[in-house]
Amino acid sequence: MRYGRFDDERREYVITRPDTPLPWINYLGSRDYIGLISNTAGGYSFYRDPRMRRLTRYRYNNVPFDTGGRYLYLRDADTGEFWSPTWQPTRGDLQAYTCRHGMGYTIIASTYRGVEARIRYFVPVDDPLEIWQLTLTNRRDRPVSLSIFSAVEFCLWDAQDDATNYQRNFNTGEVEIDDSVIYHKTEYRERRNHFAFFACSEPLSGFDTQRAAFLGPYRGWDAPLAVARGESFNSIAHGWAPMGSHHVELRLEPGQSHPAIFLLGYHENPPAHKFDPPGSQAINKSTVKPLIQRYLDGDAVDPAFERLRDYWDDLLGVFQVHTPDPHTDRMVNVWNAYQCMVTFNLSRSASLFESGIGRGMGFRDSNQDLLGFVHMAPRRARQRILDLTATQMASGGAYHQYQPLTKRGNDEIGGDFNDDPLWLVLSVAAYLKETGDWPILDEMVPYENLPGSEQPLYEHLQRSLTYTLDRLGPHGLPLIGRADWNDCLNLNVFSADPDDSFQTAPLKKDGTVAESVFIAGLFVLAARELVPIARKRGAEDDARQYHQAAVEMACRVQEHGWDGDWFLRAYDAFGDRVGSRACDEGQIYIEPQGMCVMAGIGLEDQRAVQALDAVADRLLTEHGIMLHHPAYTRYQIRLGEISSYPPGYKENSSTFCHTNPWIMIAETLLGRGDRAHDYYVRINPSAREPISDVHRCEPYVYAQTIAGRDAPTHGEAKNAWLTGTAAWNYVAITQWILGIRPTFEGLQIAPVIPGHWDGFEATRVFRGVTYRISVDRVGEGNAVRLTVDGQEIPGDIVPLPEEGIQDITVRVQLG
Ligand code: BGC
Ligand code: NOJ
Repeated sequence: MRYGRFDDERREYVITRPDTPLPWINYLGSRDYIGLISNTAGGYSFYRDPRMRRLTRYRYNNVPFDTGGRYLYLRDADTGEFWSPTWQPTRGDLQAYTCRHGMGYTIIASTYRGVEARIRYFVPVDDPLEIWQLTLTNRRDRPVSLSIFSAVEFCLWDAQDDATNYQRNFNTGEVEIDDSVIYHKTEYRERRNHFAFFACSEPLSGFDTQRAAFLGPYRGWDAPLAVARGESFNSIAHGWAPMGSHHVELRLEPGQSHPAIFLLGYHENPPAHKFDPPGSQAINKSTVKPLIQRYLDGDAVDPAFERLRDYWDDLLGVFQVHTPDPHTDRMVNVWNAYQCMVTFNLSRSASLFESGIGRGMGFRDSNQDLLGFVHMAPRRARQRILDLTATQMASGGAYHQYQPLTKRGNDEIGGDFNDDPLWLVLSVAAYLKETGDWPILDEMVPYENLPGSEQPLYEHLQRSLTYTLDRLGPHGLPLIGRADWNDCLNLNVFSADPDDSFQTAPLKKDGTVAESVFIAGLFVLAARELVPIARKRGAEDDARQYHQAAVEMACRVQEHGWDGDWFLRAYDAFGDRVGSRACDEGQIYIEPQGMCVMAGIGLEDQRAVQALDAVADRLLTEHGIMLHHPAYTRYQIRLGEISSYPPGYKENSSTFCHTNPWIMIAETLLGRGDRAHDYYVRINPSAREPISDVHRCEPYVYAQTIAGRDAPTHGEAKNAWLTGTAAWNYVAITQWILGIRPTFEGLQIAPVIPGHWDGFEATRVFRGVTYRISVDRVGEGNAVRLTVDGQEIPGDIVPLPEEGIQDITVRVQLG
């Protein structure tokens, strides 16, 4: 069952009923000012950091599920009836409801008893504010007198404190009102130089800034007293819960439309000019007023929206494809790329499943997110690489997370996730292939942000590899530390205390025994990436050394990391096998099969084939490939959090979507395009749209997990949006199945597509040159013959063109 449809032309998903299985959200803003918005206008906004600079309040896990948002109420003065044009929070019986989630904007439209409302929400590309552009139209055959009430609830900045520290919070709230602008200035008198503003383009009949007054005693957002009685209280918040509400009255003739604009934004003043008049405690508004005025005048709004469209046209224009499969096209051309931008911006911090107060930017997560985004915004990728690298420790290890505001490593969680530093090598390699920006390797970057510790980025990469080599276990395989990619495989934690966090509990084992075959595979992949990089720098000895290290590690995997029919997952703290036929549960894991084959291990001796066939036999379901199987049915102290989940959920045997593209890529290395694409389609959100009642999350973005075969809700997705699934699926489909991938020498074109496809077309902008590629299937195999601007060339890499050439036409015969 569907709850909407794709509008491919406009790059929108159109939701046609408000009661979706879960709130289906979108993101507004792509840099500093960011908002989450659901299909019923729920969500919240923040400036840069969703914990420390939260603008509006949101109640996670509340009932109704999606509580707190960008609300409007309309009230018919003749009948006293009121409703929300976005359905929430009044949940009236709307006619003609649609929500169009687009690239950085959301448009919610509805009609109620002949009053049509359309609200376009978006954040301009360059300014830290969001615009709600409302248009009301009277479709009745008689005039209507309407009241509009707006409502946002301000968060007192630190979202964690806001949700817990009431003995303080209930005293600190402060606002100012000036014309139609409500300023939220809690703590501005003391150490904050920033405030929020909520402005309205229309003359006001009243306003409210104290929640208790607006709602009335014991009333909720579904029936605020001010709205019910049709008149604001003009309340001024002192302490308690500051909010912003404007009251506008208007009369519309039949057929008449009326626009109104609401702005919610963030502004910082220079510390020396905080107050006006100086010496007072009133906000100096002279710095922000021009900005507010520019957008309230209306003339700036449509151009800002056009600019947002252009911004996305440019980003998405870097790679467009036309294939025989609409789900592939839709995800590659629009939604998967879009999700990659969101994960790049937010890592795992703010979604409907990530509360914005927990995790900062993950080291391994951000390095992987970069893989899906680097071609769209290489400059931003460059900065991200340098920021991440600066949180690396001198040992080569890495802080597992860093805070977006300070860019410093998070001490609470520390390091010891032994896979972390290796991902840096992959992201830098991807960046170099995309851009050819070799000088980045000489950028001086500190360790742990410590001044004086700066070393070239290249040395950081070297230390990433050394870190693994310095930590080898009894079989010569990498020690796992706290955990590797699988945060829940905690082989040294041994937690029997329900009050422990598996992620931070002190390690009970000394960590010298438990080894990870997955890290071994990742090491081989990373070392092989570093070889040509070293060579390019003329560091032949380094190149030889990394090559040798990769070969040796690959041999050790073959010797000690092979279980007979597939790659083993790990050795636990007693040296016992994990992910082996010898285990009664968790016999085979997906991660080492994907990673080892991607690293090239087993390609020469059929083991790769065997491993991937075992995946197909034992882990594949109609809803994707499960993480391992059989699922753990009881808690196993020696394995940790993985066995804490009920069977079929999360790391305990769901389809953990992040890992599926590794298998797709591995399948392409075997030349099995049918399988690779079949796996791709099984978890492709668009392909799952017809089963939205089973899948339940948004059909336009990937979720982290889909409940596995052992779960009662097999097929149900959870944790949409912020997942490494976005980047890896993008890489798998674009670079390995469609086969268009950047290399140091040029653009490689080596498709491994389904046998029944007769070809496809693609446009790829690479190093400033536009490649127009058409692939024609001429036989059953995957061999390619390239014709570049009419000239047949050997191999499958289109060499970098001479300076000045901007367009290249590539014809590919595949067979
Ligand atoms: C989740 C993991 C996640 C980890 C992060 C665990 O509870 O299952 O997916 O990576 O928390 O802290
Ligand atoms: C989510 C985390 O963000 C990611 O870092 C981890 O690899 C996966 N969970 C698997 O545990």
